[in-house]
Amino acid sequence: MTLAPPRRFFVETWGCQMNELDSQRLSSQLMQQGVLPTRDPQEADLILLNSCSVREKAAQKAYSRLGEYRVMKRHRPELLLGFCGCVAQQEGDRALERLPDLDFVIGPARVGEVGQVLQRRLSGRRVVATGFPDAAERNYDLDLLSREGTYKGMVTIIEGCNKKCTFCIVPSTRGPEQNRPMEHILAEVRHLLDFGFREIELLGQTVNHWRDPSTAADFAVLLDRVARIDGLERLRFVTSYPRDFTQDMVDQLGRHANICPYLHLPVQSGSDRILRLMGRGYDIELYRDLIGRLRTSRPGIALSTDIIVGFPGETDEDFEATLELISEVRFASIFAFKYSSRPGTAAPRLKVPIVEMGVADRRLQRLFALQKGIQLEINQTLVGETFDILVTSWGKQPGSQTGRTPCHRLLHFDFGEQAAELGSMTRVVVEKAFPHSLVGSRVAA
Ligand code: SAH
Ligand code: F3S
Repeated sequence: MTLAPPRRFFVETWGCQMNELDSQRLSSQLMQQGVLPTRDPQEADLILLNSCSVREKAAQKAYSRLGEYRVMKRHRPELLLGFCGCVAQQEGDRALERLPDLDFVIGPARVGEVGQVLQRRLSGRRVVATGFPDAAERNYDLDLLSREGTYKGMVTIIEGCNKKCTFCIVPSTRGPEQNRPMEHILAEVRHLLDFGFREIELLGQTVNHWRDPSTAADFAVLLDRVARIDGLERLRFVTSYPRDFTQDMVDQLGRHANICPYLHLPVQSGSDRILRLMGRGYDIELYRDLIGRLRTSRPGIALSTDIIVGFPGETDEDFEATLELISEVRFASIFAFKYSSRPGTAAPRLKVPIVEMGVADRRLQRLFALQKGIQLEINQTLVGETFDILVTSWGKQPGSQTGRTPCHRLLHFDFGEQAAELGSMTRVVVEKAFPHSLVGSRVAA
């Protein structure tokens, strides 16, 4: 049976920046086929769920969301349903078996094929496109990228991950590392700048592990080359792996003012014993030393990190070590998560006692409380300072807008007589500080 081509699509995106970018790539290919985007799933005749599997009951959550869309499909049999992202990669054929009215499944390494997958579905068969083709076979049709709605041009430089952190499912859902050639990356950055973007963010699970596939130039060289491109006002990159951060990379942060004074550097735990169980490949001494060198190279740099609490075997003492590290480093922000066991990872098989949920909950609360105080203190020191901010949205209050400082802090401001254009830069003086945001007013440039 052939099906009618869809006219409007809706994409729901969960998870990290890579998923966000994958959703943009899915959208642009559909638009290229004449299917238009909508913000309202009720209006769509093609719905894609771009799922994330990194934490907690991911599969269950994805199936329950798909279940809600399937209810819509009961009343509108022409509605097409696609399951994408990391949970889709994990589930593959099983998803089609479980959901008789699911139309197709696309893994993260196959987003470049959504057009063909849709065509195959329309001519009859349900489709599963998962697995990991070589980078050379992957489709990155740059001109097609649909980037509206964000003011940050995201550019993947390395896909997948070769590390083996014992808690992490990413290597199995996004596959082994695949580096994109330097020339492709530079071309994509130039393309985005021509398109009007002011800020570029380089993406990878271990972004600083990038190497040019033919010349073996490393991430320090790439940073230098990208930062020198005319018209690039802000350069960010995420996520850096502590052990792979070389002194050359540290030096680039000091050399180029357009590299943002902000770095996300996941540490995961303050205890060497736990870091070993996590298979992270560094100790706190290395991490502390790196932070010191970063702060020397780029005084005032804002740092953020990821922490997992309640990892198997974590004792009160280990957790205290994490609190100590947090107090010592004074991060501008942290992302903290309760450990959750992921299928196929090594951590659940470690011969160590698991941490009770209640204990992990209390640890997480203590960590948040400590960090909240630190963040407020740091933010208070910024009152009176003026920042060039990238305006990203309208504020909740009339007469206000919101943007990000170069150090990635959220700043809500009164725009005065005339609003700033979204996506432009404007100067704002900070007047008030909160733990998670700043408030200020626009000033003359
Ligand atoms: N390289 C990527 C890792 C992606 S996962 C990055 O650093 O962004 C993002 C974060 O989720 C990790 O840093 C970790 O803190 C957290 N995380 C990953 N697996 C987890 C798990 N099983 N339980 C709890 N948190 C986890
Ligand atoms: Fe996951 Fe560790 Fe890679 S956290 S994405 S296995 S660096």
